[in-house]
Amino acid sequence: MPDGNRSNADLSAAIAEAEARFIAANPKSKARIEAAGRVMPGGNTRTVLHYSPFPLGWAGGKGNRLIDLDGHEYLDFLGEYTAGLFGHSDPIIEAAIAKALRDGVVLGGPNQYEGKLAEAICARFPSIELVRFCNSGTEANMLAIQTARFMTRRDKVMVFAYGYHGSVFYFGDKAGQLNLPIPWVVGDYNEIEGTRALLRQHAASLAAVVVEPMQGSGGCVPGDPVFLAMLREETRKAGIILIFDEVMTSRLSPSGRQGALGIAPDMTSLGKYLGGGLSFGAFGGRRDLMERFDPYRDDSIAHAGTFNNNVCSMAGGLAGLTQVFTPAEANRLNALGDRLRDGLNKLAARHDIPMQVTGIGSLMNVHFAKHPIRKPADLHPADKALDKTMQKLMNLFHLDMLDAGIYLARRGFVALSLPMREPDIERFEAAAEEFMATRGRVLKAALEA
Ligand SMILES: Cc1ncc(COP(=O)(O)O)c(C=O)c1O
Repeated sequence: MPDGNRSNADLSAAIAEAEARFIAANPKSKARIEAAGRVMPGGNTRTVLHYSPFPLGWAGGKGNRLIDLDGHEYLDFLGEYTAGLFGHSDPIIEAAIAKALRDGVVLGGPNQYEGKLAEAICARFPSIELVRFCNSGTEANMLAIQTARFMTRRDKVMVFAYGYHGSVFYFGDKAGQLNLPIPWVVGDYNEIEGTRALLRQHAASLAAVVVEPMQGSGGCVPGDPVFLAMLREETRKAGIILIFDEVMTSRLSPSGRQGALGIAPDMTSLGKYLGGGLSFGAFGGRRDLMERFDPYRDDSIAHAGTFNNNVCSMAGGLAGLTQVFTPAEANRLNALGDRLRDGLNKLAARHDIPMQVTGIGSLMNVHFAKHPIRKPADLHPADKALDKTMQKLMNLFHLDMLDAGIYLARRGFVALSLPMREPDIERFEAAAEEFMATRGRVLKAALEA
């Protein structure tokens, strides 16, 4: 027995059985990864999409449903890690992108959509006085950070452990492999006094503090409002640019998490759904910083990018933000998310299962732990055996939920999309409750071992 004790043996046996069931049900997904693996490392081009024994390959999607290569239908509770806010076939967005395509793409000049999308973004997020577009959230952070470093003539950038700001800005367990060589100062998220001291220590050389108002990829750990307000106060005093990475959280109120918190950062990075479901990134903020990009100026900063204003993202994003993701819809979807999270937490309590769901509004993450989760450290126990058990429980939960026709991230991340309604939420709850009923004993034994 590799696990060395009975309860983990039970857990491993349960996972082995669930994986065998998965493999038998998904021959075409298996064939896909094998074929792709001949020309792509592990058949993969986006690490987060990989899970064992192999990821489902998708044939398509409609509304909040997905169809895999073997023809199974799933309710899509992953929502493309928040970029799929509109679902898969919103008619307004579909029409806007189709029109843009019909009218011609790669025009090699400014188009009729970019100014209007910028206007809609500045209206929704008042701290963004001027905005520029790019191609991804990663690029948005790269550009916001470099703008701050250029404008302040300072070098260092503060980030937080387990923060994620893109493929070259990852500060989790395997941090640093591909990170950009910027002199990082890494603080502890939600640790108020420690971070204040670190900030003051490095104040003279810090260009920026980059923070997610809720750590999304880190497990949906909401930023303590007092912690975020402290960052605002200290950075203002020290002339450090405060960058809110709202690539994920901008959907958490009609005006982003910053609007709900009443905190105005100096700069904001955006991405995901704001391109209507196509590649997109944006960075913007205080006029005095952003106006340096004005090409009429003699001292202007150059910012290039062939697809910065690509017609389809601009048209889809504009239709999505102005006609589909209205403030009323933002509030509805976030209330639906609160309802699901509360429902799942109540079910776990009723079944006495060491499972909890963290997050805000339409974004949440399932965790297998009993203790309160307030800081990233609460999700990463020093006890490596416990850490491994928590991951294994996640694997089992994921496989069982897939078997019930519910698609979510392997790490337990859930992002609701606009086509979601109450009956969809009830289906998720029913599948989770079934998991608690059938796996409760294995789960408790594994965590108590
Ligand atoms: C908070 C945050 N910032 C930045 C990014 C990077 O965005 P992209 O994947 O578009 O590069 C992500 C992506 O998940 C994110 O969650």
